[in-house]
Amino acid sequence: MSAVLITNIGELTTNVGRDGDPLGTLRDAALLLEGDRVAWAGPAAEAPHLSSRFAGSTTVEVVDAGGRAVIPGFVDSHTHLVFGGDRADEFEARMSGTPYAAGGIRRTVVATRAASDDELRERLQRFTRELRTQGTTTFEIKTGYGLTVADEARLARLAAEVTPEVTYLGAHVVPAEFADRRDEYVDLVCDEMLRACAPHARWIDVFCERGAFTPEESRRVLAAGVAHGLLPRVHGNQLGPGEGVRLAVAMGAASVDHCTYLDDADVAALAGADTVATLLPGVEFSTRQPYPDARRLLEAGVTVALASDCNPGSSFTSSMPLMIALAVREMGMTPGEAVWAATAGGARALRRTDVGALGPGMRADLVMLDAPTRVHLAYRPGVPLVHTVWLGGEQV
Ligand code: NIG
Ligand code: FE
Repeated sequence: MSAVLITNIGELTTNVGRDGDPLGTLRDAALLLEGDRVAWAGPAAEAPHLSSRFAGSTTVEVVDAGGRAVIPGFVDSHTHLVFGGDRADEFEARMSGTPYAAGGIRRTVVATRAASDDELRERLQRFTRELRTQGTTTFEIKTGYGLTVADEARLARLAAEVTPEVTYLGAHVVPAEFADRRDEYVDLVCDEMLRACAPHARWIDVFCERGAFTPEESRRVLAAGVAHGLLPRVHGNQLGPGEGVRLAVAMGAASVDHCTYLDDADVAALAGADTVATLLPGVEFSTRQPYPDARRLLEAGVTVALASDCNPGSSFTSSMPLMIALAVREMGMTPGEAVWAATAGGARALRRTDVGALGPGMRADLVMLDAPTRVHLAYRPGVPLVHTVWLGGEQV
């Protein structure tokens, strides 16, 4: 086994809450990684003595952090990374005033169906590298740009090659060929398509929104997925008020994502539930919609996560530092709350207890920042602050 001792950490964010600090912040800290796990975190002065702890067969690498900050790796709990083509033209038109409409999804469906497995695989590899170098160590990927039985199963299978967090999103939109037979499409999503995708997926998702799926259709889709052993999550309240949040809570979903248009009943429902509110500020940034009110959710006691929603239509960015900067600048979050939401919050949204924090026994997924404090992630927007990433104890 190999071990890494990181010393001289100016500010260590463990997310192991203590003394009223949910971020479990330690100054002048050290961190010991053994194999793919965190073995110990604490004040540098109390670091374990390596010679007495390790016998000759273990190589111990000692890394001097030089006073830099260390945080858990980002957990991006919402992406749509398996697709063909892009929609730069749509973005450009939007910046000249054309409003965002989810109908653009159908264009990406056409491009995705036309792409070969190898093309999609090559892209997934590139995205995986792009995420890793920006400090994301756990990420979810949704299907939803295939919308035939064969294409959805193909996307789920390819996504599973790069992450265990695969979400079946056959209910993204009703595809063009089913435009006047939507009931038949919902049947397909709940039956044959689900059976083809479930073996590759952990989650089921539905876009519960005007122009996508009604609350009744959404409930059917989620219930069918649950009956096949998938765990529910929901896209809701993105483009306007609606039933998405309350449906997610009623179904015991791990997360409801977007949450841009909420009424008091939505906030109250979230406050009394285990369902995480995942906010996706890349969408508001690139669609010029109003940002969700994170402060209101936090004041109500709701667990908030931040994710990129990386997709070619509404948010073509995989940068979690950008999400943090936007959440702080535009959504009323403090830098600490935003960093927690992008790490521990994402882990909650994926019901993962092994990532998102740096407690003993958790996965050794972490980021050393080229900065003395995590505050710089919001304070220095757009600056590449990721210095070193460890994934399962290995430097990436
Ligand atoms: O999460 N809301 C639905 N789906 C994506 C957008 C997909 C697209 O425009 O291609 C989202 O924002
Ligand atoms: Fe999405």
